[in-house]
Formats: sequence, C-alpha cells, structure tokens
Amino acid sequence: MNAVVLDGPGKASIKDVREPVAAEGEVLLKVRMVGLCGSDLNSYRGRNPMVSFPRIPGHEVAATVANSGTAATDWARGTQVTLSPYTNCGRCASCKRGRPNACQFNQTLGVQRDGALTELIAVPASRLYRANLTLKELCLVEPLTVGFHAAARGRVTPADTVAVIGCGGVGLGAVAGAAFRSATVIGVDVDDAKLATARKAGATHTINTASADLHAQLTELTDGRGPDVIIEAIGLPQTFRAAVEEVAFTGRVVYIGYAKEQVAYETRLFVQKELDILGSRNALPEDFRDVIRMLEAQRFPVDEAVTHIARMEEAPGILEAWNREPARFTKIMIEVA
Ligand SMILES: NC(=O)c1ccc[n+]([C@@H]2O[C@H](COP(=O)([O-])OP(=O)(O)OC[C@H]3O[C@@H](n4cnc5c(N)ncnc54)[C@H](O)[C@@H]3O)[C@@H](O)[C@H]2O)c1
Ligand SMILES: [Zn+2]
Ligand SMILES: [Zn+2]
Repeated sequence: MNAVVLDGPGKASIKDVREPVAAEGEVLLKVRMVGLCGSDLNSYRGRNPMVSFPRIPGHEVAATVANSGTAATDWARGTQVTLSPYTNCGRCASCKRGRPNACQFNQTLGVQRDGALTELIAVPASRLYRANLTLKELCLVEPLTVGFHAAARGRVTPADTVAVIGCGGVGLGAVAGAAFRSATVIGVDVDDAKLATARKAGATHTINTASADLHAQLTELTDGRGPDVIIEAIGLPQTFRAAVEEVAFTGRVVYIGYAKEQVAYETRLFVQKELDILGSRNALPEDFRDVIRMLEAQRFPVDEAVTHIARMEEAPGILEAWNREPARFTKIMIEVA
C-alpha cells in the first residue's frame, strides 16, 4: 500500500509500505482523509526532536472500519470514525490520576510512531469515535479537542468572559470550546482573517492587537475587571506575560502554547491576584465527545477553517509549498481514498 513518508528534513515521498495487521483489541481502518497541522510542518522541517526518520506523518484522521478483527463487534465494517492519536502508559503520575492526556510516556501517531498518511492503519478500538460527520469534519475533531480541553481546564462557565490570545488552528478550538460552554468570548489575534473566523466560531468580540491596545480594549469589554479566563494559544513570551497581566483578580490562566524561549514574569501578580495558572495538553475522551456534538450541531465554520484539500500524490509537493510560504496555508487536508 502507499504511504507519505518523511525521509529526512525537507524530504517527503510516496512509498510502498507493508500493510498493518490488527493486533488483539485493534480495528483495521481504511484511511479516507488526514488533516495536517503545525506539528506536521515541524516534523517535515526536522525540527521536532521526538520525530526520527523515516516517519509516516498524520494524526488528524477520518476513516472507515475495514475489519474489526477480534475487537468488539460494535465496530461494523464501513462505520465512519475519527480517533484519538495518543497513547497512555497507565502507570505514570498523570495516568494514575485519571489524566491520561498528559501521560509522561505518550506516543502520538505520526510523531513517535508511524501515522495515518497511508491507506490502512490498525488502531485500538478504545481510541475510536463514531460520528455523523463529513470527512472534513471528522479530520477537524482532534485539532479542535485541544482548545476544548483548555476551556475545560479553565473551568469555563456561562458566567465567564474568556479571552483567547491567538486564533490559529489551536486557538480557534479554544474559542469554540468556550462558546460551547456559553461563555462570552473575546478573540485576540494580529490577523483580521483569523479574527473573522473566530467570530464565526463563537467569539462575540475580537481585538486585533496589531492596531489596537489589548489592555484598553479588554478593560472596556469587562467593565475594568479583565477577563475571568485567559487562554494563551501562541507560545510567545509577550503573550504568556499578557495573560497574567490582563486576567481578572482570582482569574484563571490556561497555557496551550509551547513557548520556544524562556519567559520572564512579574510573579507578584500570581500572588496578588491569587491566580490559577494551568497548563493544558492534548485532550480527554469527553473533549472528543463535546467537539463531535458541536460539529454535529453545525456550530463551527468548517469551510473557513479548511483552506486546502489535496490528493495523497500531491502531499510531498504541498508540504514543500507550505514550508516555503506558511502564511498561505491555514489547514491542509489530504484525501487518501
Ligand atoms: N498544548 C497542546 O496540547 C498543544 C497542541 C498543539 C499545539 N500546541 C501549541 O499551540 C500553539 C499554537 O498552535 P497553532 O497551530 O494554533 O499555531 P498557529 O500559528 O496556527 O496560530 C498562532 C496564531 O497566533 C497569532 N499571533 C501570532 N503572534 C501574535 C501576537 N503577538 N499577538 C496575537 N496573535 C498572534 C497568529 O496570527 C495565528 O493566528 C503553538 O505553540 C503550538 O506548539 C499545543
Ligand atoms: Zn494536529
Ligand atoms: Zn502514563
């Protein structure tokens, strides 16, 4: 069968690889469509230390059941599914505490092990989610769960005003997740197109910090108190700091962004405001179920969020184009079959 293989930094090709065999408890899936995100671009560039070459990328998956093998019979052939691309060891502190999304020894599909950009994959039945969705929507489930998990970490309620700093692929999920919890949502970005999509995903206010002052705008929108919850979804020192500076007293700050450099803080604010400062990583099964419910209710601007669709043979070329001009692409989806 064919697969897209990352052969080394900046090198991808279509290769003939061996078909997988479903182990005990696994289901064989026919891959239909795979979404790509920033982490796949990073892998392609050779900038992810967790990726060794050769590696098949892909962790945002729409598939149909090809053979349910020894797994439970409720996965009938032809059932449309998406999946959770993580693993959990069951023994680390996170797993023992019932938070397998943050497993110390997680292995993400397409990162530490071969991913879904191929014709067939074998996946544990426990990682599958059925949904009444189109292929594009099925591929959007996993990337949206990251932001939904952040909204859950921030304990967002209808009484809250939530500012999401950074409305890219991940932040958009946080906007939708906070809106799904009926909060008042403020989207913050430097790109008007991203903010327009954020409004369609549930933000009632947006702030473009390339032209407006974040502090003045947030103060005005929150009667001087600041947002109850701020979710950072970029990973820059200035936005990491802004979250702590702008959040209300006794508010919650949730970090999704991975900062690429050290961040210096005025730590007095942690104490003086008595803040809850939380990290948020990957997602839990309930986040998958919430995202599926939201997409089934058609509460998300799918067409705005997906900018490019290509066939599997075109994947090496589109990865190269994305690497050259990242700003031209928001979300790429690869049709496999
Ligand atoms: N915690 C997790 O589980 C997890 C999972 C996936 C990704 N991430 C991290 O989330 C972050 C965001 O990922 P993404 O794929 O959405 O990236 P992205 O590049 O698609 O989005 C970033 C957004 O931030 C905006 N932006 C850039 N600089 C800004 C500034 N100074 N002020 C306001 N807006 C600004 C950009 O216009 C863009 O819309 C990354 O750090 C990534 O590593 C974390
Ligand atoms: Zn992704
Ligand atoms: Zn674990």
